[in-house]
Amino acid sequence: MKILVTGGAGFIGSAVVRLAVARGHHVVNLDALTYAACLDNVASVADSPLYVFEHADIRDRAALDRIFAAHRPDAVMHLAAESHVDRSIDGPGDFIETNITGTYQMLEAARAHWTREGRPAGFRFHHISTDEVFGSLPPDPSVKFTEDTPYDPRSPYSASKAASDHLVRAWHETYGLPVVLTNCSNNYGPFHFPEKLVPVIILNALAGKPLPIYGDGTNIRDWLFVEDHADALLLVVEKGQVGRSYNIGGDNERTNLELVRALCAILDRLRPKAGGSYADQITFVTDRPGHDARYAIDAARIRAELGWQPSVTVEEGLERTVRWYLDNAPWWRALQGRRGVGERLGVKA
Ligand SMILES: NC(=O)c1ccc[n+]([C@@H]2O[C@H](COP(=O)([O-])OP(=O)(O)OC[C@H]3O[C@@H](n4cnc5c(N)ncnc54)[C@H](O)[C@@H]3O)[C@@H](O)[C@H]2O)c1
Repeated sequence: MKILVTGGAGFIGSAVVRLAVARGHHVVNLDALTYAACLDNVASVADSPLYVFEHADIRDRAALDRIFAAHRPDAVMHLAAESHVDRSIDGPGDFIETNITGTYQMLEAARAHWTREGRPAGFRFHHISTDEVFGSLPPDPSVKFTEDTPYDPRSPYSASKAASDHLVRAWHETYGLPVVLTNCSNNYGPFHFPEKLVPVIILNALAGKPLPIYGDGTNIRDWLFVEDHADALLLVVEKGQVGRSYNIGGDNERTNLELVRALCAILDRLRPKAGGSYADQITFVTDRPGHDARYAIDAARIRAELGWQPSVTVEEGLERTVRWYLDNAPWWRALQGRRGVGERLGVKA
């Protein structure tokens, strides 16, 4: 299959690109190379005959038309987005423009390409979204997000992703574009940009800096190793039912405080520090405005219909992640100087 991946120089997109190439797919990686991108994430496939990079912005319809015409993909996996909730609080404009307008431009460019090709039934537009569109859950562990949970986004980021999900469904219902959607929980793993919780904790711990926990640390997230997410995404683009959405999650609910303590315990074992535990660096800071209390995914549909299951436990995945950061200091050092990294963002509201 020839897959046009948008956002393939980011965290999850690059995992998709690496896995797709490893499985023999042709990949066109379309990315604007924003502050969150890093071409080193795809260095391992850069010389592959199966891989092409296209530097373009998804808001640029002329560029999209050129790329669709040049490569004639069989499928689109649309991951390009502004993805950091804290940045969406300080500057929602980029999120509206990329996540909503950019998705609209992608849909129109894909529809024009699909029409030109004779509306092939096998074409897919796979929109990659988040569980954050469903809002915030109560603590009751029996209540989880299903594909039928009503949308209730509460941050500029999740609202922009919700809007893009609605556009994708509308392009299917109105124009017949063969779409599939996925909504995934929090990812972690190698190549995670050093402004997100897991890398912030690992890198601050190593630097002897405070480990910031928003509020009282009781917010619950459902953590999934990024390579298991990439595997699920390739399964959905190949075998998912047209017009359907699939929730993806690892059944690994942890409070933020539990997650941070788990990372500290791994670091204590792998890189012991003199005199005490990394957990001594934990510091509680002002909460994020509108901080959702709990996300939890019911992944029964993708498990039952497509036979997907995660390959690693959260304990294994976190240890692999910590080891990766210990072994790849040049990668993260190069990104730490980028705009806003290391600053507390999203507290203006
Ligand atoms: N990170 C998570 O835990 C998570 C969970 C569920 C869903 N998602 C979704 O998965 C997708 C990827 O997330 P991520 O964490 O890898 O994001 P990321 O911020 O690491 O990467 C985003 C990529 O998109 C590119 N991009 C941004 N604006 C662009 C534009 N206008 N044109 C072209 N490229 C552009 C960036 O350069 C970057 O390479 C997003 O759609 C996000 O909403 C993320």
